[in-house]
Amino acid sequence: MTTILASWKDPGKVGIEAAWTARLQGADLTTTLEKGLSACELDPELLAIGLGSLPNADGDLELDASIMDGRTMRAGAVCAVRGIVPVISVARKVMEDTPHVMLAGDQARRFAIENGFKPQNLMTAANIEKYDEWKRGEAEEFYVHSVDESHDTVTMLALDQKENHLVAASSTSGLAWKLPGRVGDSPIIGAGIYADDEIGAAGATGLGEELWKAVASYRAVRNMESGMSAQEACEEVIRHMIRRQVNAKDLPCVVMALRKDGDFGAATTKGEFPLWICQDGKFEYREYLALEG
Ligand code: GLY
Repeated sequence: MTTILASWKDPGKVGIEAAWTARLQGADLTTTLEKGLSACELDPELLAIGLGSLPNADGDLELDASIMDGRTMRAGAVCAVRGIVPVISVARKVMEDTPHVMLAGDQARRFAIENGFKPQNLMTAANIEKYDEWKRGEAEEFYVHSVDESHDTVTMLALDQKENHLVAASSTSGLAWKLPGRVGDSPIIGAGIYADDEIGAAGATGLGEELWKAVASYRAVRNMESGMSAQEACEEVIRHMIRRQVNAKDLPCVVMALRKDGDFGAATTKGEFPLWICQDGKFEYREYLALEG
């Protein structure tokens, strides 16, 4: 059985369908998630991630991505990369072709170009219009999650139960209208994603500053190691955040988890969190309501 999870309604649907298509064509789990996130990044209609997503305060897109292989515990990430998509593929290259975990900014871009990625303008008429609205004071401050179904991060988890193998991956344009240079949880291993074949995988999406401080994904995996179900593991992380972090309910903070036996769950500090699930081609959509604390 192959299980794939993807965050958020519209981009999650694009991501999970592309991931399953790749899987059907024989892709391994790493390629499955890379294809899923690439499809979202390359879709200019999605305000979520990659091409056409919401920019920083300068009107520039700075993209972050990460991937982790639960078998080898290898990981790759890039942050604050301009003018390159899909950055999830650059993160994979960092994991597979370098001894490092993360490359940042201009040097990540240089690495991408040296590896055949073509620099391009990621701004579109639609995201320029949104940016102009924000400059005029007509857009929601900072964040797209509460105002738009597109959402700004896509996080995906995958499990091959026959091979007892898990991969976690995430791609984001970060908070809309963020300070230039700001990096959130998504490319940080342990915060944005974590995978360990001996236990399970977890991923985060939402307000990156808070999720990072909680080391949310690592904490969820450790919770599962201590015997919790995936749902209990996510709820423990979120309740702890609500109790200890004063800003945890300002915006949605979400954790999703997948145990090596296929059990999965998710929890959020605020709003409703939409999750797509694919189990051997059977697609399901669920919404998780915010916890009270
Ligand atoms: N979770 C995405 C970010 O805060 O950058």
